[in-house]
Amino acid sequence: MFEQLDLAPPDPILGLTEAFKKDPAPNKINLGVGVYKDAQDRTPVLECVKRAEARLLEQESSKGYLPIPGAPEYGAQVRKLLFGADHEILANKRAATAHTPGGTGALRVAGDFLHRMYPNAAVWVSSPTWENHNGVFKAAGLEVKSYPYYDAEKKCLDFEAMMNTLGSVPAGDAVLFHACCHNPSGMDPDAGQWAALAALVRERRLLPLIDFAYQGFGDGLEEDAAGLRQFCTPGCELLISSSFSKNFGLYNERCGAVTLVAASAEAADKAFSHVKTCIRQNYSNPPSHGGAVITTILSDPALRALWEQELTAMRDRINGMRRLFVESLKAKGVNRDFSFITRQKGMFSFSGLNKDQVAALREEHAIYIVGSGRINVAGMTESNMDRLCTALAQVMKD
Ligand code: LMR
Repeated sequence: MFEQLDLAPPDPILGLTEAFKKDPAPNKINLGVGVYKDAQDRTPVLECVKRAEARLLEQESSKGYLPIPGAPEYGAQVRKLLFGADHEILANKRAATAHTPGGTGALRVAGDFLHRMYPNAAVWVSSPTWENHNGVFKAAGLEVKSYPYYDAEKKCLDFEAMMNTLGSVPAGDAVLFHACCHNPSGMDPDAGQWAALAALVRERRLLPLIDFAYQGFGDGLEEDAAGLRQFCTPGCELLISSSFSKNFGLYNERCGAVTLVAASAEAADKAFSHVKTCIRQNYSNPPSHGGAVITTILSDPALRALWEQELTAMRDRINGMRRLFVESLKAKGVNRDFSFITRQKGMFSFSGLNKDQVAALREEHAIYIVGSGRINVAGMTESNMDRLCTALAQVMKD
């Protein structure tokens, strides 16, 4: 049976890492996958994580199964990060959270739940969006449609076109928003635009599905949740997917969450029972370690303070690299205005390079970026910047 199968196309992001590993070039640079690198080009284990793990190793007394949605304390900590500790949603018990294997797992659970309970609903994603959104939702059986988001000419949000399209989405469809640090464009709505989007969603009775993978990488933990919180009005309904790969550096622990918000505690309980069924029939219950690390950090004031410090240091380093990148390109004589890169938020920069330039970077300079032109700024360092900008200047000249 297997002889007849052709090779599947490589994944546009993780496939790059596979190709990068095989590349024998000595000074190759991987700016494809969204993984944070420190100034020494390492992806470090955060100190707060190391300390939490030491404590867990000492105290862990069982490897018994977790409940289907994971440990309740984990869900409680996730909800505080999302809504703030004093939010009405928490007081009224209108939200329920399941610990999922990564943010991708959360999206898939949300997709399974939507397709199972609302078989006619489509999900709308921004154009462009994270490549895997399409794959995950299609695999769940959902129809995926897209709304305009980014104006590639002007290097900003195409807000008018976005509002126009969303204004005609049928009631009951889900609309995916990136809570902050839009992947791949790095351009987020401002406060007024978020308010307008939330009002439109309410008026048209759409279901917001918020992908929150970079909390703390934009402007700060609270600031980055401001867009999401505009949707959190009395009686609102929401699905939220969280990822803790980046902000806790827990990439390989696959630690995320899906949070469902309903109009009342009773409705939340009922709807969440179906989320639990989707999980049970998929991976049964989550792996424990990453969630236990996060719960330990968030429930201990000293570890939490250390985490916030380490997160701020990651954010500051990325923003420093954005500035250095723009200056270095200018110093290499690149005339094109790249100042928009310092206005983009999060790990990624949408460079505007075309497919040929992306291919030339890889083939002639062993520099890997995503085919859309997305560059992982968090992979830039002071030591690879010169080579990167020389190569970019060359590729743009050619
Ligand atoms: C990315 O966009 O590079 C990350 O979210 C990693 C991934 O799984 O694609």
